[in-house]
Amino acid sequence: MRAPISDLPVAFEQASLRAGAVNIVSDLDLTLGAGSPTILFGPNGSGKTTLLRLAMGLVAPTSGRISWGGRAEPGERLAMVFQRPVMLRRTAAANVAYALRAHDDRRVAELLDRVGLAHVAGRPARKLSGGEQQRLALARALARDPEILFLDEPTASLDPAATKAVEDIVRAVAASGVKIVMATHDIGQARRLAGDVVFLARGRLVERAAAATFFTAPATPEAAAFLLGDLVI
Ligand SMILES: Nc1ncnc2c1ncn2[C@@H]1O[C@H](COP(=O)(O)OP(=O)(O)OP(=O)(O)O)[C@@H](O)[C@H]1O
Ligand SMILES: [Mg+2]
Repeated sequence: MRAPISDLPVAFEQASLRAGAVNIVSDLDLTLGAGSPTILFGPNGSGKTTLLRLAMGLVAPTSGRISWGGRAEPGERLAMVFQRPVMLRRTAAANVAYALRAHDDRRVAELLDRVGLAHVAGRPARKLSGGEQQRLALARALARDPEILFLDEPTASLDPAATKAVEDIVRAVAASGVKIVMATHDIGQARRLAGDVVFLARGRLVERAAAATFFTAPATPEAAAFLLGDLVI
């Protein structure tokens, strides 16, 4: 029997993404391996979403390379929750069933229950609140049984209770062996979830460190300033 194909590690080598004259991500060297959650941290416009899109294989670098488990193409077990998820014009349950690619009512119910949305299963997904749509997007991503789950600020529009619910789900998913790579600019959330931190500013990797080190003794002035609430320009 062959070993199952793994997409880990996701390795960036001198990966850059340019759009016209703009360097969106520059000369990124980064390896995302198995283990506790990696948090992409940094101010607005620092390149977090772009890094996730590159890691997901949704966009190719304009120079440099990205590999997944040593291969040039990603496999099937990557899932992403976007910053602004797009819902199918169907019920919440039908959105999850579509992601499952199988008619399995029990599994749909389980997934909705896992994200605390069992009570809205029959409602049109597009009529759900922003926070509910984020959680539905999480259920859809989990339906794919991912090896790596990319999350782009999944709690940005959620109230504290819903944020805690999502963080609990993320922790449980991570504990089940799924690699979490999550963008946030919420310092509290980064502290609560991070195993390690990748700090970006202006499209560059500024610092990478274990969470305990990053939050107590950041190595770069940019990270120190950002942690103090100063703008990084
Ligand atoms: N296709 C594009 N063409 C030109 N500029 C782009 C393009 N995509 C992204 N950018 C710019 O690249 C920078 C990085 O964007 P990105 O969305 O990755 O940042 P981010 O860290 O996710 O920010 P936020 O915290 O606001 O979500 C931004 O200045 C953005 O305007
Ligand atoms: Mg973003």
